[in-house]
Amino acid sequence: MSTFIKGLEGVVVAQSQLSYIDGQAGQLIYRGYHIHDLATHSSFEEVAYLLWNGRLPTRAELDDLKHQLALNRQLPNGLLAILRSFPTTAAPMAALRTAVSAAAMFDPEAEDVSLEASRRKAIRLTAQIPTIVAAYERLRRGEEPILPREDLDQAANYLYMQTGQVPDPENARALDRYFILLADHGMNASTFAARVTTGTLADMHSAITSAIATLKGPLHGGANQKAMEMLLEIGQPDKVDDYIKRALAEKRRIMGFGHRVYKTEDPRATVLRRMSKELCEKMGATKWYEISRRIEELVTTEKKIYPNVDFYSASVLYVLGIPVDLFTPMFACSRIVGWTAHVLEQLADNRLIRPRAEYVGPKDLTYVPIDERG
Ligand SMILES: CC(C)(COP(=O)(O)OP(=O)(O)OC[C@H]1O[C@@H](n2cnc3c(N)ncnc32)[C@H](O)[C@@H]1OP(=O)(O)O)[C@@H](O)C(=O)NCCC(=O)NCCS
Repeated sequence: MSTFIKGLEGVVVAQSQLSYIDGQAGQLIYRGYHIHDLATHSSFEEVAYLLWNGRLPTRAELDDLKHQLALNRQLPNGLLAILRSFPTTAAPMAALRTAVSAAAMFDPEAEDVSLEASRRKAIRLTAQIPTIVAAYERLRRGEEPILPREDLDQAANYLYMQTGQVPDPENARALDRYFILLADHGMNASTFAARVTTGTLADMHSAITSAIATLKGPLHGGANQKAMEMLLEIGQPDKVDDYIKRALAEKRRIMGFGHRVYKTEDPRATVLRRMSKELCEKMGATKWYEISRRIEELVTTEKKIYPNVDFYSASVLYVLGIPVDLFTPMFACSRIVGWTAHVLEQLADNRLIRPRAEYVGPKDLTYVPIDERG
């Protein structure tokens, strides 16, 4: 009999060649390449190729992937009609979850679980998810969705579809680096959900719908939004100490801190902190960086927990002009690559994922007919 481990902490549920996390040393590696190197030198499309194919692309292979992504960005009319029918008050993650589930019904290969069809669906979903997020954002503001552009990369095209303006190249590159940093992260909760769904041989869209539903929670992808709400509530650097000391005294969780695996600084936070500083300075909004730094000083000293990926993502996305409740959908625009890569890895060597529960309830009770119950 195996022992019960709450939250499956430390339990190994798969062998994977996708990403390696050293929680003690604070390292993250995708398919052998250190995240800092990828964030400095690579692009999101190149990282997508790497995660899906196991090696970096040649120039021709990268161009081909970019072309395929660009060709698949536009949403089928029926799917757009569904988006138009959503209440404008819907949470964007709920809209995304529902739209991705609905996208299956417009995908000619939806029910084909072969590796080849699943690879094509990985590209289609990666192309479509940013379009869904941007289209819903515009619809809820009472504006018409903007058609994607084939000549822009994933990050620049997202900003274009949200605002209608071709973005400043430095801002587009910042979002591209954010997408690189969040593309995969071992057996996190949403990836596990995708693999469990795939383990039953359900299709790619079902797996990704499970993953999006799981990412939504504030203990996972929802933390970036919560972290920004905290920064906005604090509002000024001189208000940080009071707020954080009170929050810690009341045993509240500080969103964007702590991690199941990292016992030191999350290597993605190192890059994002630097990006936050540079972008906040560039956009004339240094207070968000200053507030973040002071929160970090207090929380690391008092609680010995470190910022995770979501903490500095908050100020980065905010100064890039992303609405706060689109932060978690932004996470999904990146993690779709990791989820789909895990689905492909699961499919290539599948076995149903079916753990057990330790039953701790009563046994051998006597059934009492309803009229005789007191
Ligand atoms: C990420 C997270 C869910 C990991 O949780 P976990 O591995 O189950 O760790 P636990 O919830 O058991 O926490 C361990 C201890 O650290 C404390 N802790 C963990 N994260 C904390 C936080 N963000 N703020 C304050 N205290 C925190 C817990 O209260 C607990 O303390 P205790 O032992 O005195 O009760 C948790 O750190 C968290 O809730 N962070 C905030 C949400 C977040 O940023 N999520 C994004 C993750 S990338």
